This record gives sequence, C-alpha cells and structure tokens, in this order.
Amino acid sequence: MKIVIADGGWGAVQDIVQYLPEGSEILGFQCKTENEVIEACKDADAILAEYSPISRRVFENLKQCKIVSNSAVGTDNIDIDAATEFKVAVANVPNYCSHEVADHTLALLLAANRNIVAYEKAVRDKKWDISSAPSMRRLQGQILGLIGFGKIAQMVAQRAMSFGMTVIAYDPYISCDDAKLCNVTIHKMEEVLQQADIVSLHLPLTENTVGLFDKEKFKLMAQKPIFINTARGKIVKEADLIDALEKGIISAAALDVLADEPPSFENSLFNMANVIITPHVGFYSDTSVEELRRRCALNVTNFFLMKYGELNILNPQVLKAV
Ligand SMILES: NC(=O)c1ccc[n+]([C@@H]2O[C@H](COP(=O)([O-])OP(=O)(O)OC[C@H]3O[C@@H](n4cnc5c(N)ncnc54)[C@H](O)[C@@H]3O)[C@@H](O)[C@H]2O)c1
Repeated sequence: MKIVIADGGWGAVQDIVQYLPEGSEILGFQCKTENEVIEACKDADAILAEYSPISRRVFENLKQCKIVSNSAVGTDNIDIDAATEFKVAVANVPNYCSHEVADHTLALLLAANRNIVAYEKAVRDKKWDISSAPSMRRLQGQILGLIGFGKIAQMVAQRAMSFGMTVIAYDPYISCDDAKLCNVTIHKMEEVLQQADIVSLHLPLTENTVGLFDKEKFKLMAQKPIFINTARGKIVKEADLIDALEKGIISAAALDVLADEPPSFENSLFNMANVIITPHVGFYSDTSVEELRRRCALNVTNFFLMKYGELNILNPQVLKAV
C-alpha cells in the first residue's frame, strides 16, 4: 500500500509512521498546487493532507485512492462532492483542540479584564503605577455572552462559571433544554449583545456568518463589552470593529483570529492600546498537535481495517461502494 503525505507541518514522517498500516510505503511532500498534488499522489492508496488542494481535478487524476485524511477540523481544501463522486472517503479530526481554544478564550478574557498586557508593558517601561492601565471591573458577577454554543463554547462556559460569571448564549441550533444542562440560558442574538459584559464568538465561518459582526451588531452591545474572537476573523467586519473600538462602543477586543492571516502589520488594530492579538494559536499545544497527527494517521489505518466507527468520515455514503 502506498500512503502519501501531501503536505503539513508534520516534522518527520517517522512521528506518525507507527500509526499507519504496517509495511506500507510512506512518502512525504509539501504540495501547494493541484499539479504538485497530482504528481505526488496519482498512484497513492491513501492521502494525508493539511492545506494541499485536493480538488475535483486532483480526484480525476487519482488512480486508486480510497481515503483522504485531513489533518484539521476543517476540510475546505478538499472538494467533498468530487470525492464522493469518485468514491473516495474523506476523514477529518474533530475536537482535537477544544480544550486549548477554551483555555485560550479564558486567557484572553482574563488578560483583557485585568489589563495584563498594559500593566506588563508599563512595568517593562519602568512604570510601577496602578494608573498605567484603564480602570477595571470585578469579573465575578459579569455576564458572558457566547455566540455559538457548540463544543468549545460549552467548555468556555464551564470555565467562566468557575470565575462566578453568568453565561448566556445565542445558538439557533441548540435547544434551550440542552443549554440548561450546562446552566446556560439561550436568548435571541440581540438580547445576548444587549446584556453581555463580555461577548465571545464560537460559531463557524460559513456563507451565512461572513461579516455577521458589523456595525449594526456592535451598536446593539449596550454594556460596552470586551469583544473576544477565537472563531474566525472573517465573521467580523474588521473596519466596523475598529470603528466600535475608536468610538468606545466596545471597551476592548481580544482576538486570536483576523480577517487576513498572516495580516498586514499596517492594520490599525495593532496600534490600539485596548486590543490584544495572538497569532491564531488557540488550537495549539504540543498535546493537541500530537493528537491531531496521531488521529489523522489512525483514520487511514482504521479505514483499511474497516473499523469505520473509529474514524470520522464526512461522506459515509462512499462506504457502500468500497
Ligand atoms: N482559534 C483557533 O485556533 C481555533 C481552533 C479550532 C476551532 N476554532 C473555531 O472555533 C469554532 C467553534 O468550534 P467548535 O469545535 O465549538 O464547533 P462546534 O461545531 O462544536 O460549535 C459551533 C456552534 O456554532 C453554532 N452555529 C452555527 N451557525 C451559527 C450562527 N449563525 N449563529 C450562532 N451559532 C451558530 C452551531 O450550532 C454549533 O453549536 C470553529 O468553527 C472554528 O472556527 C478556532
């Protein structure tokens, strides 16, 4: 069996070889274009990918591939309809970093609430002065409004409640009863934005959520909240976010994601004292990355062992054809 690693921050292939089918031939590449993928993968039985484009044209040129296992939660680099048409299974690795993103959200929340970045900078500038950062309010008793109440948001809620916060959420696909089990109440989006002292985004980027957070949404934020985004940058209209910060409609922003990544450092968010930015690292820990690679490789092994219950296949209809 020939297994091709089309791309990825894999480090050494030997990190994952132990999880791939014994005796298989394993080749590693860093394919960036369709043509490179076709050349590297045309006679592969299985492909592991991360960002490599696995497009319709790629599927048209694969001779015997049975599975593409993506080393990510998302699969926007893969044409799943084409994969299904060509009877190739597509697998991903959901939830490998939910704890990390929830922790990162709380880290941003606490840093923004306690002015950690401003104070730390002041101390390095040799100022030992309580007034070197804006005034702050006790966190206990504040209302955290979560937009999207899936896996990560539920972990954020649990952590925030241990700080004495009240958590409310908007999620059109989660029932009030399910949220109640987490001690969270579901509200309309407007109500969450009006009541929350801190607003945190945990919804996916889709054609319905691109630019969802625009000036109209910021206008609804009546409590001048801290605005946190660890979801996706393009959910927010960045010009409207900058305007809301400049006008004091929101008091601060803490962002792990930006509309363009890597960003232009001309972006005025980088010059704002009430903004904290991290470089899309919410997912990251040594533990999460190890889990991601291991599960991505095991997806291939379990597929060929026909242990379909042990991997996440996004187009299970192809299994009938295998
Ligand atoms: N910063 C990072 O490194 C990092 C890492 C992983 C995931 N993420 C982001 O976190 C997001 C959440 O991840 P998750 O694992 O909790 O996903 P999830 O699928 O478990 O939860 C997403 C929730 O959003 C809800 N939703 C969908 N459309 C919505 C809308 N229009 N308004 C409100 N809610 C809506 C869904 O019903 C679901 O409950 C991901 O979509 C991803 O963009 C970021």
